[in-house]
Formats: sequence, C-alpha cells, structure tokens
Amino acid sequence: MTDRKVVEVLKGQPMFPPPVWLMRQAGRYLPEYREIRQSAGSFLDLCYNPDLAVEVTLQPIRRFGFDASILFSDILVVPHALGRDLRFEEGAGPLMTPLAASEIERLDGSGFHDRLAPVYQTVARLRAELPAETTLIGFCGAPWTVATYMIAGRGTPDQAPAKLFSFRERERFEALLNVLVEWSAQYLVRQIDAGADVVQIFDSWAGVLDEQSFEAFAVAPVRELVRRVKARYPEVPVIGFPRGAGGRYAAYREKTGVDGVGLDWTVPIELGRTVQRGGAIQGNLDPLRLLAGGRALEEGVDAVLSGFGHGPLVFNLGHGILPETPPAHVEAMLKRIREAGQP
Ligand code: CP3
Repeated sequence: MTDRKVVEVLKGQPMFPPPVWLMRQAGRYLPEYREIRQSAGSFLDLCYNPDLAVEVTLQPIRRFGFDASILFSDILVVPHALGRDLRFEEGAGPLMTPLAASEIERLDGSGFHDRLAPVYQTVARLRAELPAETTLIGFCGAPWTVATYMIAGRGTPDQAPAKLFSFRERERFEALLNVLVEWSAQYLVRQIDAGADVVQIFDSWAGVLDEQSFEAFAVAPVRELVRRVKARYPEVPVIGFPRGAGGRYAAYREKTGVDGVGLDWTVPIELGRTVQRGGAIQGNLDPLRLLAGGRALEEGVDAVLSGFGHGPLVFNLGHGILPETPPAHVEAMLKRIREAGQP
C-alpha cells in the first residue's frame, strides 16, 4: 500500500514532516485506557481479548491520528505460549518462574499458535478497522531481551542473571536463543499473514552487552529472525530497536538485515546520521521531554527534526511513553511536528 507513510519511509523515502507514532502509545497515560484496563481484569486478559485489545489499540489513533498503530500485546506472550507462567503485578512489572538450564529442552511449542490465536485475530480486526492510510505494526521481543526476563523471572536493572547464565552455560543459552528465534519468526509471519504492514523487534536490553556478547546474542539471533521473516515476506519492512547500542548502532542494519533502526535518545546527531545513511531511522525524543512539555519538549522536537528530518525518519520517542505524560503534551508535540512542514 503505497499510501502508508511509515511503510514508504522504511523503504527509504524521506518525507517532511516525518510520519509519527509513539512506542507504548496505547497505555496508562490515557484515561480511556485505564478505564478499559480496569474492566479487563488482568493485563494479560486484556492482551488475549480481541474486542478489548482492538479498542485500546485504536484509542490513540482516534485521539491523535498517529501515522502508525502498534498491536496491543506484550513481548512476553511468546514465552507464555511456550508454556512458561506469566503474570503482571501492579508496580512490579512482569513476573515469571525463573527458567532453569535443565528446562530449556522442555519448552513446548505444541500449543503455541492456539494460545496466540486471539493476538492474530486482533491484528486482522485492526487492519480491517484502521484508516487505510494508517500503518499497522506487529512486533515481538528480540531473543536476547525475552531470554533476560525468562531467566531472571522479572525485570532487573542490568540483566546480570541472564548475562551470568550466558557466561556459565553458553551452549544451553544459545539453545534457548534458537528456540526463541524459531517461534518468534513464526509469530511475526502469522502477524503479517493477519495483516501487519511492518514488524518491529524490540531489543530493549541490547545495551548491557559487551562486544562479543552483542554480536552473539543481539546481532546473530536477530539476523536469523529477519532472514526467516524475509524468506516469507521480502517486501514487509522490519524495524530493529537495539536500545542502548551506542556506537554499535552504525553496523546494526547491515549485520541484521533490518530495514529501519530505532534509536534511543542518547544517540548523538552525528552517529544517528551515519546510521541514516544506510536507510530509515526511527526515534529519538527523550520520553522525559514529552512528560515535561514546554520548552524542553519544543527543543527536543526541533533537534530531532533538524538533525534527521531531511532523511528517511519515522518520528518517535527514544523509548516508551511514560505513564505520567499529560496527553496535552502529545498534542503539542504533534502540532509542532506537523507545523514544521508548513511554509
Ligand atoms: O502501545 C504499544 O507500544 C503496544 C503495546 C506494548 C506493551 N509492551 C504493552 C504493555 C509493547 C510494544 C510492549 C513491549 C514490551 N513489553 C517491551 C519492549 C519495549 C520496552 O518497553 O522496552 C518490554 C521489555 C516489555 C515487558 C514489559 N511489559 C514490562 C517490563 C512491563 C512493565 C513495565 C510497565 O510499563 O508497566 C510490561 C507491562 C506492559 N506492557 C504495560 C503495557 C501497556 C503496562 C501494564 C498495565 O497496563 O498494567
């Protein structure tokens, strides 16, 4: 569909003003989300209920008219569908039973697609209900980031448990990444079958890895994941977001084969432009500037537009929107981006 701006930009076409969407754009900063979240029971019930998941995905599109819509789900539904337990507790984030090395060979994909059928239904209904010009983005977590939560059983500040596991049990750790590559590839292909126009791979914890581990655990599995998706859907753009990759961002696109690269807000303009010479970038406003609003927001928006706006750019945050963000600041951000394109 050539009228979907985010798809065009990801294929390398610059556009000014750039198309815009926000990571975590459906979520707690919106009162209408909090209302549905209350009535759904648990967060996972919401993810697996197509009526409600479609509704919360559409909320930010109706309110703000973003150029892309991201499926409402979570990266941890993949281990859940492989038989691991998962719950989300208020204030504590995700909780799982930590995965022992001996359990890796027992991960069970036999019920995988049945368990995720509601997600595929949500994607199909979204593609039918979204405006024709709105890009629909599917997603999964990168194998490394998903593995960190499976091993620690929760979020940690530095992912030390998964790093130690990878150093002590290298072969089993690679076996775990292989399982995740296999099922994540199938999961993305099914989302595209159902109507996703683009898929994004979230590697939120890529930044904690040293050089060798980055190559082995962040680059190699994502390259294989992209290869498998492209074997089925060569034309569907893939965005990789190796958050915190620093100087390693520059080579990430060539090494993994992703079409677009998501930049976090610490990436300097010079480095970002180097990445942009190879194709589209996405990012990279600091989410705290959006939360703060006013001058901090205006300066941040202007810096992204003047730094990257003349090459292929999908305007976004450098990480997810924070729950305390006033929706009026999102309005102000959009106004500034859209007016930047006027004479
Ligand atoms: O709007 C969107 O971006 C789509 C939905 C989406 C969610 N999670 C919903 C969610 C997406 C794309 C994700 C990805 C995700 N999930 C990542 C990668 C991106 C990132 O933020 O780094 C990660 C690491 C997770 C795992 C996860 N899920 C954590 C660590 C948490 C707790 C932190 C928090 O914000 O509460 C979640 C919960 C979660 N995922 C919520 C939402 C809307 C909040 C739960 C609630 O509403 O009660």
